[in-house]
Amino acid sequence: MTRQHMLENLICREIEACDGWIPFDRFMELALYAPGLGYYERERVFGADGDFVTAAEMGSWLASGLADLVKWSLEQLGKPGQWVLIEQGGGAGATLVRLLLLLEHLGVEPPERVIEIERSAWLRNRQQELFERHGLSVEQYADAAALTGLENVVFFSNELPDAFPVRSFRWRHERLWERGVVCTDSGFAWHEVPMTLEGPEIPDRMRSGWPDGYISEWNPNLDPWQRDLASMIKRGIMITVDYGYRCREYYRPGRATGTLMAHHRHTAQEDVLAAPGTRDITAHVDFTALARSGLRYGIRPLLWTTQGAWLAHSPTVQALVRELASERSSESMTMLAYAKRLMLPTGMGELFKLLVQGTHEWPRPPYLGSVDRLARLDLEPAS
Ligand SMILES: C[S@@+](CC[C@H](N)C(=O)[O-])C[C@H]1O[C@@H](n2cnc3c(N)ncnc32)[C@H](O)[C@@H]1O
Repeated sequence: MTRQHMLENLICREIEACDGWIPFDRFMELALYAPGLGYYERERVFGADGDFVTAAEMGSWLASGLADLVKWSLEQLGKPGQWVLIEQGGGAGATLVRLLLLLEHLGVEPPERVIEIERSAWLRNRQQELFERHGLSVEQYADAAALTGLENVVFFSNELPDAFPVRSFRWRHERLWERGVVCTDSGFAWHEVPMTLEGPEIPDRMRSGWPDGYISEWNPNLDPWQRDLASMIKRGIMITVDYGYRCREYYRPGRATGTLMAHHRHTAQEDVLAAPGTRDITAHVDFTALARSGLRYGIRPLLWTTQGAWLAHSPTVQALVRELASERSSESMTMLAYAKRLMLPTGMGELFKLLVQGTHEWPRPPYLGSVDRLARLDLEPAS
């Protein structure tokens, strides 16, 4: 029996045990993370021969932007002699390695502890090989449970919350229905039930504009994530890079089929129920919900902007652009093409966002002051 069949059997058994229906987040959880069977537990995920490419595989741009944020963070923390660098959801580990090498190159005081929190056992093994190859000492954890009260922390993630399991809903006859998964003779299928739990935190005024049949999703894992960060980090700065929108844009009436998507061999697919375990499933991040969750646990939002604006204003990125532009080698041209893809609005520059949060009220990075969009996140409670 193939791994895919084993995973399908596992999901079907769970659906049967739950009276024939499970919410979509449980399906997504099993499809992506079932031990030994889920999508992130298999070999080919990232890169040209995988299913999707992230900024981590596109040269040093992401690491350069992060290096400037780390330098700024250490200034806010009072240039501590000892500090901790944490990445969560590092995948293959390339960004952390690049960032550590770059910080050394820039003469930044090395962190006393380097921590990688990666849920997938398969990816933790891959990371370990990479860290060893570079002679780097990195503590690896599957989750944050064992880490509490850390001081002088710089925490970052790239494309992490988009991989958290989400719940799905439909707006029908002026009320919310929850979309879950059933098992049929021809495979997994959607089935809607009246919403029984507290649904998404979406202002009523937005719902009134939705057409009948409007589909979207919400992420119940943002809140526990922020709670865990607050308990892990007593004093520090959190940097989140991912694709998504503020609430008003996420749930605008025209986005009538939501943002849930599967990725297989570099093509986006609408059918997220097909062939679980063989494809990535993601949903865009609602940054308003994320920042609101942080506030509930004392984490303050300091800056929100687009990836394009962030990278274009980062001094280390600008220096790298100048250096590569003067080289004119085919390698430097490839790197500059990556930079365009990461920064231009037609590529990843507008859809991807940077959220910087802190355990204390620190001023935003001065070099990003002119591009800060935090005021547009609409952080007042939903009404
Ligand atoms: C879309 S991938 C991004 C990987 C990498 N950051 C990159 O940019 O290439 C999401 C990663 O987050 C990991 N992940 C998902 N949920 C996690 C959690 N709660 N804690 C730690 N890692 C998690 C997945 O296993 C996967 O490696």
